[in-house]
Amino acid sequence: MAQIIPVAPFDYVVFGGTGDLATRKLLPALFHRDIDGQIPEEATIFAISRRSYTATEYADFVQSHLRRQTQGAEIRPQDWARFLRRLRHFTLDAGSDQGWENLARALGPGNGRVRVFYLATSPQYYGTIARRLAAAGLAGDAARLVVEKPIGSDLSSARRINDEIGGVFDEGRIYRIDHYLGKEAVQNLLALRFANSLFEPLWNSMWIDHVQISVSETVGLEGRAGYYDGAGAVRDMVQNHLLQLVCLVAMEPPQTLAADAVRDEKLKVLRSLGSLTQSRESCVVRGQYVAGAIDGSAVPGYADELGGNARSRTETYVAMKLSLANWRWAGVPFYVRTGKRMARKASEIVVQFKPVPHSIFGDSAPLVANRLIVRLQPDEGITLRLMTKEPGPGGLRLRSVPLDLSFAETFSTRFPEAYERLLMDVVRGNTTLFMRRDEVEAAWSWIDPSILEWERSSEHPKSYVAGSWGPSAATALIERDGRTWHEELS
Ligand code: BG6
Repeated sequence: MAQIIPVAPFDYVVFGGTGDLATRKLLPALFHRDIDGQIPEEATIFAISRRSYTATEYADFVQSHLRRQTQGAEIRPQDWARFLRRLRHFTLDAGSDQGWENLARALGPGNGRVRVFYLATSPQYYGTIARRLAAAGLAGDAARLVVEKPIGSDLSSARRINDEIGGVFDEGRIYRIDHYLGKEAVQNLLALRFANSLFEPLWNSMWIDHVQISVSETVGLEGRAGYYDGAGAVRDMVQNHLLQLVCLVAMEPPQTLAADAVRDEKLKVLRSLGSLTQSRESCVVRGQYVAGAIDGSAVPGYADELGGNARSRTETYVAMKLSLANWRWAGVPFYVRTGKRMARKASEIVVQFKPVPHSIFGDSAPLVANRLIVRLQPDEGITLRLMTKEPGPGGLRLRSVPLDLSFAETFSTRFPEAYERLLMDVVRGNTTLFMRRDEVEAAWSWIDPSILEWERSSEHPKSYVAGSWGPSAATALIERDGRTWHEELS
């Protein structure tokens, strides 16, 4: 049983309180923390949306979503009752300057208790909401602001948003969330690297051949066409989640786990990323799915999901070869790929070690180089592939076998969703797993030229069939270097 550390009483104020993110991630996360006994009796959750609800209507609305999400789990009636008692709904149009004093009145004086404003809205409202909170006297020292990725759609819009929210909240009270940093396996990567002496001496270009990071999803647009078609996989996944994973694999050991110690090291990684546009060979493959089937069920193509817009050039898949210009990683490619409507939902980091410098076993016993695999989802765990001798007399037969650590088997506990940890980190005031302003801007300034180059071209993304592993050009991207994508995934 994981140790539960109770937090101080708080108010969570969720803008976009009836939206997709709130109902699918935020409210279920708070619900689970409540069931586990982490949330004190006095804590409240205010959901804000334009549409008005009576208290009962909102409680019913939330309960029906939570029931769907927790199907199969046994939830005690008192857990339902306690959680629903915490909920308040407040009707407010965040785009209008009316109603903010009423919100302040509804929230009450606060008296120094932590008050978290979670903006589960489009980024275009971040600045306006922050300003209006301040004008209503709601941005005092105990107030914290959480904003979702993507922060803007390029460097200049990210700067504008950061300026606007930074004009009201100081950096230490801004939590830029990237839920990948809250995933168990991602934090385990830190434990693996820095709580063991085994890997760190080998963690460099002398011993590592390359790194692969893959995030594959089976879902398509999920009703988010308005956002996704303007963003695409590069802005939606690479600029944030995938780059954060690159940072955690590649960063130097921070001095401590303190927020700035970790974020300083991640920033150095982002700043050492080599340009994608100046390389002689193309390092980027963009794809878009066409109709296919996943798990035996037919799936429409992207253009059909968009309502027949065959002209959209939005990429639903991207594969990239990244390089890092520093002593540790010079010459070690980082291949990253992510896509929607792929064959299976699976995310993993693969660290491919170099072959031994000389084999004493001769040609009859070919050696397979070691490989470390960190599985983010599903079945979180770590696998290290090692060469061993097959049992039995006779010749010396060698085989590559997995040394497996499945977290579910080793720790018989429920795996909290990433948001559960992150939402409580905000209440505790721990910013280590959130992105600092300079990180977000460094990520945009690296990716922007590649997006611009693409937008200026007339190229269409390569097609791939829904339910496949992406376009063949992505296979060629890695095979050109004499390497292959990790076969257990693709
Ligand atoms: C979100 C993206 O940040 O991450 C989505 O906007 C994506 O498009 C999601 O589906 C993936 O998260 P997870 O935790 O399911 O891998």
